[in-house]
Parts: sequence; C-alpha cells; structure tokens
Amino acid sequence: MSDRELNPEVLKQLQLKVMQDVSASAIIPLMRIGDQLGIFRHLSELGEVNSEELANASNLDERYLREWLYAMSAAGFANYDSNKKKFSLSPEQIAVFANDDSPASMMGAYDMLTGAIFNEEKVKEAFKTGKGVDYKDSCPICFQGTARFFKPSYEKNLVKSWLPKIENLEKRMNSGASFADIGCGYGLSTMIIAETFPNAKVCGYDIHGPSIDEAKKLAKKAGLESRIEYSTADAKSYEGNHDYIAFFDCLHDMGDPVGAAKYAYNHLEDDGSVILIEPTANDNPEDNFNLFGQMYYCFSTIGCVPTSKSQEVGLALGAQAGPSKLISVLNEAGFKNCKVVKKNASNMVIEARKN
Ligand SMILES: C[S@@+](CC[C@H](N)C(=O)[O-])C[C@H]1O[C@@H](n2cnc3c(N)ncnc32)[C@H](O)[C@@H]1O
Repeated sequence: MSDRELNPEVLKQLQLKVMQDVSASAIIPLMRIGDQLGIFRHLSELGEVNSEELANASNLDERYLREWLYAMSAAGFANYDSNKKKFSLSPEQIAVFANDDSPASMMGAYDMLTGAIFNEEKVKEAFKTGKGVDYKDSCPICFQGTARFFKPSYEKNLVKSWLPKIENLEKRMNSGASFADIGCGYGLSTMIIAETFPNAKVCGYDIHGPSIDEAKKLAKKAGLESRIEYSTADAKSYEGNHDYIAFFDCLHDMGDPVGAAKYAYNHLEDDGSVILIEPTANDNPEDNFNLFGQMYYCFSTIGCVPTSKSQEVGLALGAQAGPSKLISVLNEAGFKNCKVVKKNASNMVIEARKN
C-alpha cells in the first residue's frame, strides 16, 4: 500500500471520531441558551412537561423550545416520554445542568468553550507572530467560565482531599497561619479556605484587576469580606510573608513560573509550603493523548500558552507540562523537597518545601 492510499477502516474511525466531536461541539450554544434563559432551571422545577407547558412557564417561544428539547433528548441531556410526549430531567441531569451549587455542575465548561471560540482571531494572529495574548484581552466569558468550571472541583476536593495531604496544614491554619492564593481569579478557592479556617489570615492576589474586583464582590456577598485581603498583584509583586503560598491552576499560565516560584520561596516562612494544583498530566506528551489531554491541550493552546507568552520570559509551560517539568521549575527556584501528594483524573497537587 502506498503512503497515499486510504485505509477505509482507519478513515471510517477517524470520521466517526470527528462526528462525535462535531456533535458534542454543536450543542455548545444550546447549552449556554438553556443556562442563561433558565430553561434547565424551569425543566427541573416543572417535572414532566411538553413544549407548550414549558413555553408558558418560561415565557419563551414554543417552537424554539421544542427544537431545543429534541436536541437535549438526542444528546441524553433530557428525557423524552414518547407516550406522554413530555420531557423531563433526571436527578443527575439536574445536578449537572440546572444547579450551579451542585458539586456535579459542569455548565462552566460551556462558558469556557464559548470564550475559547471568541479568542480564535487573536490567537490565530499570535500563531503568526509568536507573541502572546494578554489574559485581560481574552473574551470576558473565559473569566467567569474558568471560575464556574473549577468551582465544583474545589468544593469537592480542596478541603476534603487535597489540603489534608499537606502535613500539619489543618492544625496550623486553625492556629492562625497565613495563606496566600496567587492567581486567585474570582477567588472561589480563596473563599473556601477563608470559610473553612476562620482563624487563618487569607489573601488573594491576581494580576487581572477585573477578576479581583469580582472576587471582592463575591466575598462581600458571602459575608467574607473582612476575612480575605484581595489585591491586584502579579506573582512577583505581592507583599508580606506567608506560611502557605498556593498556585491553583495558574503557575503554567504565568510567563515566568521560575521567577514566580522564586518570589514565593523568598516570601514563604521557612517551615511553610508552596502548594501547586495543576491539571493532571504525564511527563511524555504521548501519554496525554486521551480524553482529558485533548481538552487540556486545546484550552492550553487557546488560553494558557498565549497568556504566558504575553508576559515577561514567556516560558509557556502549557497545561500539560507534567510533574517532572513542574518540579524542575520549583527546584530551579530553590525548593529542595517537592513531591506530588495527590492526583485524580483531572488534577494533581504538588507540595514544595524549602528543606
Ligand atoms: C486559569 S485561571 C485560574 C484562576 C483561579 N486560580 C481558579 O482556579 O479559578 C489563571 C489565573 O492566573 C492569573 N495570572 C496569570 N498570570 C499571572 C501572574 N503573572 N501573576 C498573577 N496572576 C496571574 C490570571 O489572571 C488568572 O486569573
């Protein structure tokens, strides 16, 4: 067989994979419409409905709703009873689509995907110039999407399974330790920490002013404004020393992660820890060629690499750097004792200590 001959079975499998991805992508705007117009919420509250009943309850157009309901049912995101001609959501579908406070909620992913599509033009230009795209110039949907996408995972894992892997953290935080959340974005992780450890001194820093403004608003709404000190600051300019310095899904976004880690080294108490939460990845790219790897490399190409390249140094670690590379960054910054302390399908936790 010459190089140019097509293998029909390989071709069919490739086309099937493309069709699966096309079908999954086609639903993105419908998910955002369902979310923003409260259609998922109405469905969850109404129980079983036909499209007319849904239209009456939501004050939306019946014909659009009917097509949307068929699309959701085809995707397995809603259920259709063909005898009654009624649609409904199962408890699992409600948890994933209709309840932002559920630890199973995944709607933030559709915000991120939409933001990524809007970023295409700027990133396409950056491919030609090799320059970066400043995080602040990203489509604003990305900012809320990031916060919303990570929130359920932080709520589920941060206090229950990730932070307990840092030796003595709970005891020290309960006795008034100081915790800095660098690159905190909307500060959802910062709020969880402040809520869990009322005796701790908690600070949130981010280079992106509008994210810090939103973080302050959210903290006020949650009654935590007096418990968290937020400042717009990059990872090489915040003030004071801390017992814990955390980089939650942001070190790889930074242009100078070695510089940021060195700065943390110099602002960390001697017996303190730097805590990295990064997307789970293997060291060899080929070991990341799977479902999660596809998603992370895509978000990385359109968001993380352009952000890093827009900053000083522009190292562009990428969202799938892998533990060895991340630990080498920490070692270069001076940390001697670094290890992966926890790993699940989507995230890994690395602790770095001075000795
Ligand atoms: C993917 S978001 C993660 C936000 C938040 N930690 C979370 O988990 O939801 C990356 C964050 O890193 C921030 N960031 C990027 N470069 C930074 C830098 N050099 N110094 C401080 N923050 C930075 C961005 O503004 C953004 O809020």
